[in-house]
Amino acid sequence: YELKDIDLPSNAVWHRCTVSSADRAELMQQTPRCIWLTGLSGAGKSTIANALDATLHANGIKSFLLDGDNVRHGLNKDLGMTESDRAENIRRVGEVAKLMVDAGLVVICAFISPYKRDRQMVRSVFDHGQFIEAYLDTPLSVCENRDPKGLYKKARAGMIKQFTGISDPYEVPENPEVVLDTSKNSVAESVKVILGALSH
Ligand code: PPS
Repeated sequence: YELKDIDLPSNAVWHRCTVSSADRAELMQQTPRCIWLTGLSGAGKSTIANALDATLHANGIKSFLLDGDNVRHGLNKDLGMTESDRAENIRRVGEVAKLMVDAGLVVICAFISPYKRDRQMVRSVFDHGQFIEAYLDTPLSVCENRDPKGLYKKARAGMIKQFTGISDPYEVPENPEVVLDTSKNSVAESVKVILGALSH
């Protein structure tokens, strides 16, 4: 790099960033956002999140994907599926997503996030308009038929406790920015609807 000198403020406090999140967004030439996909296991969150990420990337938009199954192998590998562990899972992911948005990225989060309170808490971390909640309103019967990981079968057999939709609650979002039913729309159509919400 060829770097130019800048004038640092003489009263700079070490922990205050000289470069603001608006400065970073401007350099990235994009509007940072958090797109939060919520819905039952098997609703299509990971599939749509991945297709959306690939579409944004192909169009030169700097994005990043945070997905439940993956995050639970690393950052949140100490957490289980109790109500309080799910809350902590969502809290941590929300904070990470906020850091990434402040860094200028479009962040896609795919988590069941079954509790309204936890989703509301994540929303409150972001500035107005930065958080887009997309509810995957795929019927339980469709998710259960798909059963891509065989988890519903295990849950019905009592082998998995507290399984969302079977033996644990899923609280339907009241005012999501986007609602999708992946049993009716193709992946490409769903991605288009989310992209539409991004352009507002
Ligand atoms: S949560 O509720 O938001 O904290 O869950 P999340 O981090 O998205 O993780 C969901 C994935 O964990 C697997 N799994 C379970 N899901 C629901 N209930 C129970 N009890 C459970 N145990 C394990 C499952 O593979 C979920 O992934 P998806 O992609 O949603 O199917």
